[in-house]
Amino acid sequence: MTNTATMKIADQEYSLPIIEGTEGERAVDITKLRNQSKGCITYDPGFGNTGACKSDITFIDGEKGILRYRGIPIEELAEKSTFTEVAYLLIWGELPNEAQRKAFSELLTDNALLHENLKNHFEGFPWNAPPMAMLSAMINALSCYHLELAAPCAILLEEAATKLISKVRTIAAFSYKMTRGEPFIYPDPNRRYVSNFLHMMFSLPHDTYEAPPIVAQALDKVLMLHADHEQNCSTSTVRMVASAEANLFSSVSAGVCALWGRLHGGANMAVIEMLESIREGGLSIKKCVELAKDKNSDFKLMGFGHRVYKNFDPRAIILRKTCEELFAAIKHQDPLLDIARELEEAALNDSYFVERNLYPNVDFYSGIILRAIGIPTNMFTVMFAIGRLPGWIAHWREVNEDTSMRIARPRQIYCGYQKRAYVPIEQRP
Ligand code: SDX
Repeated sequence: MTNTATMKIADQEYSLPIIEGTEGERAVDITKLRNQSKGCITYDPGFGNTGACKSDITFIDGEKGILRYRGIPIEELAEKSTFTEVAYLLIWGELPNEAQRKAFSELLTDNALLHENLKNHFEGFPWNAPPMAMLSAMINALSCYHLELAAPCAILLEEAATKLISKVRTIAAFSYKMTRGEPFIYPDPNRRYVSNFLHMMFSLPHDTYEAPPIVAQALDKVLMLHADHEQNCSTSTVRMVASAEANLFSSVSAGVCALWGRLHGGANMAVIEMLESIREGGLSIKKCVELAKDKNSDFKLMGFGHRVYKNFDPRAIILRKTCEELFAAIKHQDPLLDIARELEEAALNDSYFVERNLYPNVDFYSGIILRAIGIPTNMFTVMFAIGRLPGWIAHWREVNEDTSMRIARPRQIYCGYQKRAYVPIEQRP
């Protein structure tokens, strides 16, 4: 295999190095192309064929449906690990030993509270404010109370990371309580990460909520499966903002905004809305599949398809199993699960989807689990953000520690007016 590519532009040939990753992925290094060719660049809207960086964090093989965090298969982590242990693995590159695990757990416990003044910000939002809007705003507001951590350096990363990972639960739970007009429930230092979040969400002053272990385990797995996914839209956003030497809080807040999009993290809400409309008779499964195939319709089968996976999303397989185990354990039923199964069956037996390698992705089953836990639909993408936070932090760290990293600044091909004169207003049509 040659380690150079030859590109011919007009009558000139250019030799470009080919780089190869630890899993055999190859890329043509075009970092010198524009200078060598005196102005020619590559063009790849949506970046489907463009590597933005080298990364050691997560490996995905879309054709084989492989996902590994720091080399460890997601299936093994889902069976043996926890969300907070995976957060540590993603950020610092290794599974924690007992002392590191204990210290990290204590930092998460000690950092769950918000500054009392931050509570006033919640009162400024209308009761029906979108939770993702509150989350991105409150993460930046949080940085105002930790100015020492809002520095663009990675020196205080452990403190900034544990504050964010711990407090993001409190922000999410407080925003939920604000919309319900219920009193804020403070974190309980005797509860573990997920149980503490569910306590802050569902306890009342007169009625403490104790999450059944199976429920806490299911949510812990949902968060873990969302923890990182290499250069997805929101993580690429975090990396781009980090490349400008913006601090961790503002970079993560930008990631929240990107994740909010319907085609990305917002899909888990859109899946439930789609399943609900089938259940209420607005749409039939047959009609859904027809609309998804109809190029004149902007309808998409939400929770299906993926830019990278051209096979089953391994996370969807684990989530479907988690969903079935949870439902059996808590003796829960949800017609949306039956509809989801039927919809999956119909799509996977339809040539349109098979030919395009469209399979259920992470968002197809996650919402059904969150519903069973009692989390409202409008908070599903917030749950995705809580899960994805360790991945964003790991990538922010990787950008900051990459001495070769330059500010991200893509080029373009200009297709607008050529040079023209200013026209005084009295002469305009
Ligand atoms: C996430 O990048 C990540 O890793 C994201 C994520 C993460 O963990 O960060 O995995 C999380 O965002 C998962 C995806 C959630 N979004 C959805 O479920 C929304 C529905 N899916 C589609 O919008 C779409 O599949 C995307 C956005 C996920 C992927 O878009 P692409 O790669 O741009 O796909 P495409 O538009 O090039 O699709 C190729 C073909 C097209 O048809 P043709 O032009 O070939 O005829 O497949 C069709 C598309 O129209 N297609 C769909 C479809 N997804 C793709 N048709 C109907 N329904 C769909 N869901």
